[in-house]
Amino acid sequence: MPRNKSLKEEGGATATACVHGGEMIDYMTGSITAPIFQTSTFYYPYAIDSEGRYTDNKAPYFYTRLMNPTVRVAERKLSILEGTEDAVAFSSGMAAISTAVLETMGSRGHILSVRDLYGGTYSLFTEILPSLGHTATFFSRDEVENLDSLIRENTKAIYVETPTNPTLDIYDIEKIFAIAHEHGLTTIIDNTFPSPVNMRPHKFGADIIIHSATKYLSGHSDIIAGMVAGSNEMAGRIRNMQSVLGGSMDPFAGFLLDRGMKTLELRVRRQNDNAMHLAEFLEDDGRVNRVLYPGLKSHSGYGIARRLMTGFGGMVSFEVRGGVERARRFVKRLRIAKVAASLGGVESLVTIPSVTSHRQLSRAELLERGISPGLVRFSAGIEDVYDIIDDVSSALG
Ligand SMILES: Cc1ncc(COP(=O)(O)O)c(C=O)c1O
Repeated sequence: MPRNKSLKEEGGATATACVHGGEMIDYMTGSITAPIFQTSTFYYPYAIDSEGRYTDNKAPYFYTRLMNPTVRVAERKLSILEGTEDAVAFSSGMAAISTAVLETMGSRGHILSVRDLYGGTYSLFTEILPSLGHTATFFSRDEVENLDSLIRENTKAIYVETPTNPTLDIYDIEKIFAIAHEHGLTTIIDNTFPSPVNMRPHKFGADIIIHSATKYLSGHSDIIAGMVAGSNEMAGRIRNMQSVLGGSMDPFAGFLLDRGMKTLELRVRRQNDNAMHLAEFLEDDGRVNRVLYPGLKSHSGYGIARRLMTGFGGMVSFEVRGGVERARRFVKRLRIAKVAASLGGVESLVTIPSVTSHRQLSRAELLERGISPGLVRFSAGIEDVYDIIDDVSSALG
């Protein structure tokens, strides 16, 4: 990966766009940062005609569940970073995913999805969608060549997460989305792991780009938030669905998200570098069985990641020699990295997927997905890389 090339040349989110994109100046006060419009509703006299009826919506803001100026800054910023026409903010990543997916399903729809999904999304596809009369089929990386054969008459959408959690498999979204579009399907990607700094899926054919903004976009482990980016038409449809389902973002979360996104490029580039160095260190260390990081030449998705991504990301998974008990001891001994479920924050966070995020899977399912009991998932923070490596090395014992 040409790590020293500017993201502008590479087509990733630029530092300038992170700082200035979508921002507003409040002309009442001249405030350089967008104010927090902590209001549920907006003064609206000019939308009422002389008869007391509501006229055409001439004012942009009406009610915060529908749109809010502070939240709108974060929405405009993400659409600039993702290279789409618009974006919609949500109260959580799951609100964004469920609203966007339900919007595309129509009546008795079918969705094709990668198998390795975030647990909440997997439950949406296997429990909630069937209860509403929809169906889902899952495919693995080996089945991408035969994707055509899985498409049905009522298939509405293809859903991808890449790199996957926690094995960091890479799917060729350029290929998958081209097949999907030949069949007139809507293409959806959860771009949480790469963030727009490391991948801009719109140029590879993604119609709907989703984020758990809880992670890299906000970046400080202090809010729960979600976002969806897409065309004006798609964002409009999703916003209509959101206005009914109600998973809208609170203005204060919108402010923190906007503030976090200003440093997205800086943070993610540092996290990419920290993860790369950590992966290289671990690959040469005898106390670890295998290291999964798409930036390593030994990773099966390295070639695709080089083609599609502008950076390999801040997530590294590795198998501690000695199984789950050894892995438990390892994470407990870490001093800088903290054991916690989330990822993408400024602080390094670590989990053991087999006993946390993926504990609902049977042993056979875990092994089928390449999740060995001692697999550790490490979300690199922005700390000094030597401190991270020292911490990991001493905890390995
Ligand atoms: C890849 C991915 N997508 C979606 C989600 C759900 O997001 P949230 O927790 O913000 O609802 C998560 C949460 O961990 C995630 O890791």
